[in-house]
Amino acid sequence: MAIAATQTFPGPAWEELPDVTLLDSWPPAAPLPGVEVLVEAVVAVGPGELDLLPDLRLVANYGVGYDRVDVAACRERGVAVSNTPGVLDAAVADLTLALILACRRHLVESDRFVREGRWRRGWARPELLGRDLAGSTLGLVGMGRIGSEVARRAEAFGMRVLHHRRTDGLPLDELLRTADVVSLHVPLTPETQGLVSRERLALLQDGATLINTARGAIVDEDALVEELASGRISAGLDVLADEPRVPERLLDLPNVVLAPHIASATVETRAAMTRVLVDNVLALLRGEPLPNEVFA
Ligand code: DGY
Repeated sequence: MAIAATQTFPGPAWEELPDVTLLDSWPPAAPLPGVEVLVEAVVAVGPGELDLLPDLRLVANYGVGYDRVDVAACRERGVAVSNTPGVLDAAVADLTLALILACRRHLVESDRFVREGRWRRGWARPELLGRDLAGSTLGLVGMGRIGSEVARRAEAFGMRVLHHRRTDGLPLDELLRTADVVSLHVPLTPETQGLVSRERLALLQDGATLINTARGAIVDEDALVEELASGRISAGLDVLADEPRVPERLLDLPNVVLAPHIASATVETRAAMTRVLVDNVLALLRGEPLPNEVFA
């Protein structure tokens, strides 16, 4: 069975895949008849791309989020889609806490302050005074596997944890009004696209912090940039709406900590994601049910 990949993936499990062709561009410059498995990460797979892979049977998506894969279009053509859930929760939760700490304690600004030779008096300046995590309120939007891991860590820091999800918790608007720190842990779907709208961003308290390790398009990014430029709130953003394009105005703002979509990027987690991805491809090769098929 011919397998094509948009890139190689780290960890020993990768070597278990037979005959992988590395694509030099995505979408491919010409149709690829005979390719039955596409292994990809964060690329768009829609009708146009599927037309170029007429014999495809599986899109194996590296990552838990598969919002760039048009699952309905795949289904129409009998193409299965798999993802890599369950192995990256701790890594994403760790980065979420890192961003919370970085924002609430001005860590990146402090680093710049020292490197730029501005540390001239014994104690640092009032603008570097942070806020305690202990006693503050974290509002989680989404309380699945990753949200729960974030909650566990935040509680260890003494934060009061509230959440909103479709089935329980606080109404979203009330959560946004109440929390000192709001962190997003929902997948990007038609329902969550723009969920944190301009109006909802305005509900955040002055001095609140928004953390996004989920997907940029969950937030109205233009409105977020305006709120951040006003200095009213701060943000820790591992994801943006149109990666890798970074809104120019964010680059000079001291109240934003940026990361290039690295929440799952640890050696251990990325190897574990490769293991899950490879297990799905091998299941297809053996004619077995896919352990992580996604349906919508
Ligand atoms: C995920 O697993 O969805 C990460 O964001 C990587 O895309």
